Amino acid sequence: MISSNAERTAHFVFDGCDTVDLARIYGTPLYVMSETMIRSRLREIRESFLERHPNTFAVYASKAFQTLEICKIVESEGIGLDVVSGGELYAAKRADFPMDRIFFHGNSKTPAELEMAVDFGVGRVVVDNLDELRILDGLARSRGRRVPIIFRLTPGVDSHTHEYVSTGRLDSKFGIPLDPKVRDAYVGAALAMKGVELKGFHFHVGSQILVRDSHLKALEIVLGFMGEVKRDYGFEASDLNLGGGFGVHYTEQDAPEPIAHFTDAMVAAVDSGCSRLGLARPRLIIEPGRWIVAEAGITLYTIGSVKEIPGIKTYVGVDGGMPDNPRPALYGARYEALIANKADAAPAGTYTIAGKCCETGDILIRDIALPAPEAGDIVAVSTTGAYNHSMASNYNRLPRPAVVMTAAGRHRLSVRRESFEDLIARELG
Ligand code: LLP
Repeated sequence: MISSNAERTAHFVFDGCDTVDLARIYGTPLYVMSETMIRSRLREIRESFLERHPNTFAVYASKAFQTLEICKIVESEGIGLDVVSGGELYAAKRADFPMDRIFFHGNSKTPAELEMAVDFGVGRVVVDNLDELRILDGLARSRGRRVPIIFRLTPGVDSHTHEYVSTGRLDSKFGIPLDPKVRDAYVGAALAMKGVELKGFHFHVGSQILVRDSHLKALEIVLGFMGEVKRDYGFEASDLNLGGGFGVHYTEQDAPEPIAHFTDAMVAAVDSGCSRLGLARPRLIIEPGRWIVAEAGITLYTIGSVKEIPGIKTYVGVDGGMPDNPRPALYGARYEALIANKADAAPAGTYTIAGKCCETGDILIRDIALPAPEAGDIVAVSTTGAYNHSMASNYNRLPRPAVVMTAAGRHRLSVRRESFEDLIARELG
């Protein structure tokens, strides 16, 4: 994706757009999101999961990257939405997202959020605890409604990922532990309630998972649980949500699989497990976030300084950092980058790309080979489409970057850059 041009050094071209031009037109730091790549992932889900297997559904975990525009793109491809807060739900509503295609998640939903979910008529509330169940039942009954719910279960499976994004272990703050005592308290209670209608179960083992064994292990455990629930309560799930977590390429050490690698194996395991346990095969739902948007995004920065510490390292200072991408500081996440205006130049050495925050840990990339960097050059960091914009902060009062959407050579502003005025707009004086 690198364009050559006789008069100048080659520029990095992303989704048909010259990234150096994008930096000049929209400024930096800049999130660039490829609509082309997002749609191609959504279509891959349609073709290799929804159309290949009957009675399936997919929702996009919008915590990975949520804007009004992405809600509309996801809607137009026939996919649903996973939201985890009143804010995400509100934005989905403002984007006219069909509420019956929404799964509302969260381990600590507030009564106000639950009220929104009931009033908006979301497709499923994914219930995490007994307090939530009780509040939801009361809210629904007071409105003469019955809210469809599924329970989030904790299958007690460890996944091969960073501790902070592993969510299926028994000591996780998420979900309902699969202990018989707990099971009775939840399933028994829900089946007796008039305000909720139990539709089934959910699990999610973690994020950025590149091998499928933890998904399959969790699935076996949950299927066993569903068998017990049928035996003891006569209840058969009509929904089984298999979560997300499918990994993507950040660096050459990551070898991601096509989504069918996970979903084909899970569908086969459900089919055989259900026939073994005498269960009707439920509707199967997946909810990937990162897999849909991560590789569709890059971040452009301008180099402000190049500082050599002789014999130690050379810092390349850029105009963004941990406020627009907290993942290296939070998880030790690794990224690849290039100099967009020197895309065909040979590496001149090894550099450390530092963010501009007053924080020693604000390092975007350590020890990366780059062509000789100079102030004014544009750095493009890849695979920033997930959990960057959505996790951005204003630390050091840095305005959050704009988002530009590209589509095969065309580009448009999707989210404007924050202004200094925005930064103080909520302050009362
Ligand atoms: N479903 C549930 C219930 C989840 O909790 C998550 C992610 C997903 C689906 C989507 O997972 P994905 O397909 O995107 O891996 N901020 C962290 C990731 C946190 C993920 C939280 N839950 C990061 O930047 O790595």
